Amino acid sequence: MQAVIYFSRRGENFVNGKIQELTVGNTEAAAKKIAAELGCDLFEIQPAEPYPKNYQEATKVAEREQQQQAIVAYSILDLDLSQYQTILLGYPNWWGGLPQIVRSFLTDNDWTGKTIYPFCTHEGSGLGSSEQELRQLCPTAVVAVGLPIRGSRVDRADKAINNWLINEK
Ligand SMILES: Cc1cc2nc3c(=O)[nH]c(=O)nc-3n(C[C@H](O)[C@H](O)[C@H](O)COP(=O)(O)O)c2cc1C
Repeated sequence: MQAVIYFSRRGENFVNGKIQELTVGNTEAAAKKIAAELGCDLFEIQPAEPYPKNYQEATKVAEREQQQQAIVAYSILDLDLSQYQTILLGYPNWWGGLPQIVRSFLTDNDWTGKTIYPFCTHEGSGLGSSEQELRQLCPTAVVAVGLPIRGSRVDRADKAINNWLINEK
């Protein structure tokens, strides 16, 4: 069975060089498209303490978490990972790689025998170091080639998503 699991932060974000307020996060939008396309379950990693809505403040919090390699508290409702063989894992590129909350989620779980398909929304840096980090954090999983999606173009990403999913349908 397949599941889409994602982390996304709504609020102010940098879109095409300008600050804009997003009511649906870019990764959330991509995650919902992918889950609908596959007809599979969808789970959201939610921070125990929400990230600031303000973009600059959020970048500071995220930078501090990364520098401190913080263990970030989160919840993910009703997930029984043992039910799923294939995980499509979505996250925004934060400071060039995985948000620390996603690292925390990955280290908390056993990925043995699972295949992880990473998809990452970004504003120019693509997947950054996130695929490599995933391989280090989940050495017993197969990490497939990831899909970078420019956050500001998520509404036009259907074709790229479909091509990427072609072997999973
Ligand atoms: C804390 C923070 C750090 C970011 N760092 C980067 C970065 O290093 N490279 C990049 O291309 N985009 C970066 N971005 C932009 C986001 O990756 C991009 O807007 C993404 O689509 C946001 O997804 P979301 O709406 O699901 O949270 C950053 C955004 C935030 C809030």
